[in-house]
Amino acid sequence: MKILVIGGGGREHALVWKINQSPLVSKIYCLPGNAGIAQLAECISGEVTDIDYIANWAQEHKIDLTVIGPEIPLTLGLADELQRRGLAVFGPDKAAAQIEGSKIFCKKLLAKYNIPTADYRIFSKADDALSYIDGAKFPLVVKADGLAAGKGVIVCRDIGQAKAAVELIMRNKAFGSAGDQIIIEDCLIGEEASFLAFTDGKTVLPMISAQDHKAVYDNDQGPNTGGMGAYAQAVLVDKALKEKIINQVMVPAIEGLAKEGCPYKGVLYAGIMIVDGVPYVLEFNARFGDPETQAILPLLNSDIIPIMQAAADNRLDEVSLNWKQGSAGCVVMASGGYPGKYEKNQIIQGVAELSGQEDILLFHAGTVYKNGNWLTHGGRVLGVVGCDKNISSAIKKTYSGVERIKFDKMHYRTDIGKKSQS
Ligand code: AMP
Ligand code: GLY
Repeated sequence: MKILVIGGGGREHALVWKINQSPLVSKIYCLPGNAGIAQLAECISGEVTDIDYIANWAQEHKIDLTVIGPEIPLTLGLADELQRRGLAVFGPDKAAAQIEGSKIFCKKLLAKYNIPTADYRIFSKADDALSYIDGAKFPLVVKADGLAAGKGVIVCRDIGQAKAAVELIMRNKAFGSAGDQIIIEDCLIGEEASFLAFTDGKTVLPMISAQDHKAVYDNDQGPNTGGMGAYAQAVLVDKALKEKIINQVMVPAIEGLAKEGCPYKGVLYAGIMIVDGVPYVLEFNARFGDPETQAILPLLNSDIIPIMQAAADNRLDEVSLNWKQGSAGCVVMASGGYPGKYEKNQIIQGVAELSGQEDILLFHAGTVYKNGNWLTHGGRVLGVVGCDKNISSAIKKTYSGVERIKFDKMHYRTDIGKKSQS
């Protein structure tokens, strides 16, 4: 089979790495890919937003399955366009991807199907939102309706912060039309987990749970990033909680989407806040998480291709998932300045030494290879993944890999997975 993976981050490197292990696969292409992915796949230049270009390319090259990594091509209808041309695709269509593309769509679905989530109000006018804030209780959370690269959610401790958030999103249009409408919702206090499942719109096949670390600094300090690290599985999601998440969140969401006329295929990712044992949905994503995927896929024994094909063909009930015993950690090594402005083209040391190890994997997010050197090329540069029999030894192994990577002004969190051990 010829596989095309869309995207070029650490998540896509992990996907390509896993797909490359399938005996069913003869060739992998990745658009645009990155320098690490180029070791396993042929990278194709192009924009992930260029739907017609990608669909034409896939058709011309007789791609057997396209796997869509990021949310933007999903919300722009890449899956619809590929399907229109009779090409197999792993990922939801435009209508179903609204679950990530519009937080208002998501909240209305949650409310209609009685899925636990924070109480909320929707606003289309800044003035209405500002007067609501005058009488509100704090903390509260202000969210842009549309996609904002993970930056459209602002947790506000007081009235000043909440008003500033409304000004930023609705008046200054910091996220463009994504901020035409906002949600203001109650702030939930609890423990977060990421719960991902494969689905064909009927069957829900859960993956192992994971925990993301969104804030840039240790102890969850500093601004949010795309994710500074993750580990799997999340210790707080025990068997009983997993059942609750499946039965109270994942299954009703998939059934609800089907009833609303937008059956969902692909990976459904629930961002969950656990409060007094109840799994509240913070958000849904219409795709694999980044960096959760880098910690989850190394623990999946099963060939991923038959799973993706079965999801695309509505026969996921024929498939089961087989997981390795043990745990995995992922630490993201970031450029100085990230998540703000950062420099590129710093020489990275240690990449060659970490390649080809069995229990330590290196997933590239923002690198280039030039004149015999690996260079930084993004905010998140590399993800080091360590696998071992339990979470503490997996984390230890991860940091033993981290110590071997060096580049000027690099930074990373030193407490990934710590909460699992306390
Ligand atoms: P989201 O993109 O909706 O997952 O939000 C990003 C982050 O904001 C989450 O991972 C949480 O840490 C935080 N967050 C979002 N909604 C809430 C909420 N209702 N209460 C507390 N924290 C929240
Ligand atoms: N790890 C958060 C996300 O993928 O959106």
